[in-house]
Amino acid sequence: MDKLIIEGGVSLKGEVTVSGAKNAVLPILAATLLTDDACIIKGVPQLRDTATMIKILRSLGKNAELENGAVTVSMQRNTNYVADYKLVSTMRASFCVLGPLLGKLKRAKVSLPGGCVIGVRPVDLHLKGIKALGTDITIESGYVLAKANKLKGSNIYLGGVYGSSVLATDNVMMAAVLAEGLTVIESAACEPEVVDLAEFLIKMGAKIKGHGTPIIEIEGVKHLHGATHTVIPDRIEAGTLMLAALITRGDILLKNVSYRHLGALVDKLEESGASMTKTDNSIHMRYKKQMHAVNITTLPYPGFPTDMQAQMMALMSVTPGISVITEKIYPDRFMHVAELNRMGAHIQREGPHAIVEGIKGLSGAPVMASDLRASACLVLAGLAAKGKTSISRIYHLERGYENIEEKLEVLGAKVWREREKE
Ligand code: EPZ
Repeated sequence: MDKLIIEGGVSLKGEVTVSGAKNAVLPILAATLLTDDACIIKGVPQLRDTATMIKILRSLGKNAELENGAVTVSMQRNTNYVADYKLVSTMRASFCVLGPLLGKLKRAKVSLPGGCVIGVRPVDLHLKGIKALGTDITIESGYVLAKANKLKGSNIYLGGVYGSSVLATDNVMMAAVLAEGLTVIESAACEPEVVDLAEFLIKMGAKIKGHGTPIIEIEGVKHLHGATHTVIPDRIEAGTLMLAALITRGDILLKNVSYRHLGALVDKLEESGASMTKTDNSIHMRYKKQMHAVNITTLPYPGFPTDMQAQMMALMSVTPGISVITEKIYPDRFMHVAELNRMGAHIQREGPHAIVEGIKGLSGAPVMASDLRASACLVLAGLAAKGKTSISRIYHLERGYENIEEKLEVLGAKVWREREKE
């Protein structure tokens, strides 16, 4: 296992291009199961998670290759309908092969993903939506067995205790595109990644309206054909790099970014005194003056993204004032608090809140990454800290940030990898 070493205290400066969105590309790759034709997906980031999804597609009978940022998916043999525990357990997003397998083959056997370090993460909403389309569902030996003679469009309310669900909306949408008649999803997730999936499905011949709003209408069609699609830029990678500019008092020009997908983050940063220049596909983030603490509450899109909560906590830990950070999507997503405190931060967790008292500066320390965004938070903290930070279990970072070390190095960061002693 590798650890990442950061010698902090360098102001990051320069230009960087944001990669394609991990959370858009994973369901889009799954959607290629809906057709026997070839599909080409461009702007695919080279990540551990995209490699896992490619493996899953292969295990389900597809040919899939990632070359120069594009994945070509084509038919190899009759599609298998079993998504194995070994693959699904390594990445929760694999569960979104359920909808397309069911849509195309009318049967699917998909391993239940289980919980993970950021919370329990049930799949009740996925199953509720899929059932409503006329599917028989049983759970056996850790697998969801789904079977339907035919799928029938239906009215489905998909709101849960924590609001809408991104992957449940994706799953139901992918099953409904080949169902008979009209499906209406109410309380659908509005995330840009859901919109991108819908746009890809439309290119394949699906009839979808209302994506990007809480009510999505899907008129089933008989079959879908191949399509070519370029995924949207990764708003969470972009947001993380914006914070890297601020926390190191630097100056970074981000290219291939849609600031419209980052409204809540931009608003909070402006409220805390940051200034930036935006164009349609770039953001120039420059640290100009002392910022002050702001409160954050995570919410489904267009609210403040839970996937930026940990990184924002790193910034607030060195921003004067008190910041109350409330996590409303995953109330236990606070594994980074103890690690930031090891670096000298003053953060107290109280249930779904973290109270952050901004201090003058962090000091480098050995810390441990617990999940993807917690790793990004520790990288930001390490970049700002005085001295050396070593982050172990850095494989989490590889799940969601393409070439992150290279990108940071180009911006001037002193960052390198070392083999972890077993
Ligand atoms: C997606 O996960 C993202 N993953 C997550 O990204 C992200 O944190 C999350 O959406 C919220 O924005 C992908 O897109 C691959 P949800 P997803 O279903 O769809 C509850 C990252 O770091 N819920 O929108 O699995 C759930 O427990 C990650 O890139 C149910 O109760 O999340 C949570 O509280 C990690 N029942 C809330 O809904 C269900 O059936 C929202 O989760 C499903 C979800």
